[in-house]
Amino acid sequence: MNGGTAIQVRGLRMTYHVRGGPGDERTVEAVRGIDLEVPAGEVFALLGPNGAGKTTTVEILEGFRRRTGGEVSVLGFDPASGERRMKEQIGIVLQSTGIDPYLTVAETIELYRGYYPSPRPLDEVIEVVGLQEKRGARVIRLSGGQQRRLDVAIALAGDPELLFLDEPTTGFDPSARRNAWEVVKNLESLGKTVFLTTHYMDEAQYLARQVAIISAGEIVAEGPPGTLAGRDTAATKIRFRLPEGSELPSLAGAAVQAGDGQVELTTEDPTRTLYEATRWAVEQGITLEGLEVTRPSLEDVYLELTKGSEPQA
Ligand SMILES: Nc1ncnc2c1ncn2[C@@H]1O[C@H](COP(=O)(O)OP(=O)(O)OP(=O)(O)O)[C@@H](O)[C@H]1O
Ligand SMILES: [Mg+2]
Repeated sequence: MNGGTAIQVRGLRMTYHVRGGPGDERTVEAVRGIDLEVPAGEVFALLGPNGAGKTTTVEILEGFRRRTGGEVSVLGFDPASGERRMKEQIGIVLQSTGIDPYLTVAETIELYRGYYPSPRPLDEVIEVVGLQEKRGARVIRLSGGQQRRLDVAIALAGDPELLFLDEPTTGFDPSARRNAWEVVKNLESLGKTVFLTTHYMDEAQYLARQVAIISAGEIVAEGPPGTLAGRDTAATKIRFRLPEGSELPSLAGAAVQAGDGQVELTTEDPTRTLYEATRWAVEQGITLEGLEVTRPSLEDVYLELTKGSEPQA
């Protein structure tokens, strides 16, 4: 299923009504009119801090939760209509799940395969998530990372076109995270569309072709991770330390910030600025200690965009 659009969202809104007690009703505007477009056959990441509205959005797309407003199309269906044909084509990994801890891995997957008209073969499912060695192990004996893989296996059992993964790697150690990433890459190579939510910029960067950053219910940036929020064209920073007593000449097109020997140049033309700085240093016979050249990372962009978005109560 390549080339088309798997998910389209226009002006999606979700307001929760929370009752604290008699006469105490508050509303939480969890999602405030967002637009999303998820191409078929790709990994899409919805990135945002705690309470930003990720799970709410995913649950609406999955058909678990009724939206307050806006238009949503998932594989051509409106998830609010509860269409069985839509449910058969989507796989879901919830933020937390409740599977029978006394079944084995294979039994659990078999159970879920039974719910679908044309499930994926058991062995294939086990292989895609890398649980071959744990096939006969009871769920209760699996590590956290292995349980999360089983969650993905369950979502894959029905051979869906589209998978929702809500924070698939939260709480994983670095190597378990890498393994989970390979599982997601495998899904993409099977031609699946994957909609994942995450707090981790590196995860979004590694896995997703398109990223949307959500903050306090609003989309604050979207695009391919490499160019998000103009970070590919943002000014470059060049940093180094000068030996005591040396004075940097003024350099073309670079703003300088210096304090006790530390120099930070901000430039739109890093090739030229770096050349001028290093030529000057070589001529003076000095070394630019700790020389580094950096552009804003996805993390810099993310922190800047989500700054001040306190998680709502
Ligand atoms: N069932 C609910 N009733 C009332 N408010 C809710 C409910 N579910 C979520 N909220 C509120 O809606 C907002 C968005 O929550 P949501 O779970 O969508 O965030 P999230 O981005 O998934 O966060 P996290 O990264 O912590 O999982 C929060 O302020 C949350 O408190
Ligand atoms: Mg969540």
